[in-house]
Amino acid sequence: METQSFGTVTDMTKVVCPGSFDPVTNGHIDIIERASNLFDEVTVAVLVNESKRGLFTIEERMDMLSEVTARFDNVSVDSFKGLLVDFCTDRGIAAIVKGLRAVSDFDYELQMAQMNGSLTAGVSSVPVDTLFIPTSPEYCFLASSLVKEVAKHGGDVSKLVPPLVLDRLKERLSQ
Ligand code: PNS
Repeated sequence: METQSFGTVTDMTKVVCPGSFDPVTNGHIDIIERASNLFDEVTVAVLVNESKRGLFTIEERMDMLSEVTARFDNVSVDSFKGLLVDFCTDRGIAAIVKGLRAVSDFDYELQMAQMNGSLTAGVSSVPVDTLFIPTSPEYCFLASSLVKEVAKHGGDVSKLVPPLVLDRLKERLSQ
């Protein structure tokens, strides 16, 4: 039987996992790890949002991400300002990988995916596509904002973030 080839053996599939990562959670790491198993190169890209001050600086978020993804050979960490699709086209990144926690995530994610596709249609040779990975059930309720809220009030988030992030959260919230 003839198989259809969608590229040559030399094609590298580069994808991006974008986000605020303030801070990175086990839910993010789950998606990053699964993307790293599927694609040749994964760039974790932290959004520099000048209108929103986070708990951690961009450098602190990138530093935590670098440490917790160090075991994945094909994952690197970067930051970006402006449009995500510009970051992708500048670097030859073919697709945006997003985790989907619930059906309620889908409406907005679909809207962004279609906007990003339309922004790149006709601009780059191939539109930047978006691929959704369903979040593992144990992380479906997880969000950085909730982790910060719970940790701020002394709740236990030790199962929701890596130990390194837990330490930095405790340190930051005690200041
Ligand atoms: O972790 P977050 O805050 O949910 O991530 C949202 C993010 C960074 C993926 C999204 O806000 C984004 O891509 N921002 C960059 C600006 C942009 O490209 N906007 C157009 C999206 S259609």
